[in-house]
Amino acid sequence: MTKRLEFIASLINNEDSVIDIGTDHGYLLILLNKKGIKCMGTDIHQKALSSALNNLKEYHLEKKIPLVLTDGLNNIKIDDYNTLVIAGMGYNTIKHILNKSYNIKKIIVQSNNDYDKLRLLFNNLEYKIDKEYIIEDKKHLYHIISYLKGREVLAKEEILFGKYNKEYQKYYQQDLEKLKEILKSIPDNHQKTILEIKEKINILEKYIGAVQ
Ligand SMILES: C[S@@+](CC[C@H](N)C(=O)[O-])C[C@H]1O[C@@H](n2cnc3c(N)ncnc32)[C@H](O)[C@@H]1O
Repeated sequence: MTKRLEFIASLINNEDSVIDIGTDHGYLLILLNKKGIKCMGTDIHQKALSSALNNLKEYHLEKKIPLVLTDGLNNIKIDDYNTLVIAGMGYNTIKHILNKSYNIKKIIVQSNNDYDKLRLLFNNLEYKIDKEYIIEDKKHLYHIISYLKGREVLAKEEILFGKYNKEYQKYYQQDLEKLKEILKSIPDNHQKTILEIKEKINILEKYIGAVQ
């Protein structure tokens, strides 16, 4: 089991019942079952579900944890569950899956990219950030966001970089350095891009300067 999946499992509480969308190997389902959490998995690819089924069988869980071949939440009775996990996918796939607002209490999302677009998407779907985490697993950085149903107004900087968290200074610094490098490589006639990057640099410098 990866540290990333164990971390996601740690965000699930006793009162949660979970649909793991795009479960693939089904490892998260095995971790959740160990915690006594009701859960099911879906995947769009039969090969992925077969791998999940084989893994569930190893733990004699094949009759206990439903697996459904489907695109996102299509044909799933979501009223029987109150939490979604969507992990290990790109923003466009996540957007395709969450194509309307569901009446689900909690969503844990780990996108592989485009966190700013993701924050905007969830804000529009009327979910508010409960907490955002950055974890390192085998030299990879993962952003994991726990959302609760509800509205919130996010400032532009919060959409771009998440809510300020002093624990994440190191990552703000890394992002800042990357942006400074990118800025050097942009030709002078791309003024719009230059201004956008400068704005991001300003925000990150503000975040970094905010440390106590
Ligand atoms: C990289 S795996 C991530 C597996 C697991 N969630 C994790 O975080 O380790 C992405 C999985 O999402 C599935 N997937 C992609 N698009 C999907 C969709 N529209 N509906 C359901 N599953 C989808 C893929 O088939 C694949 O098994």
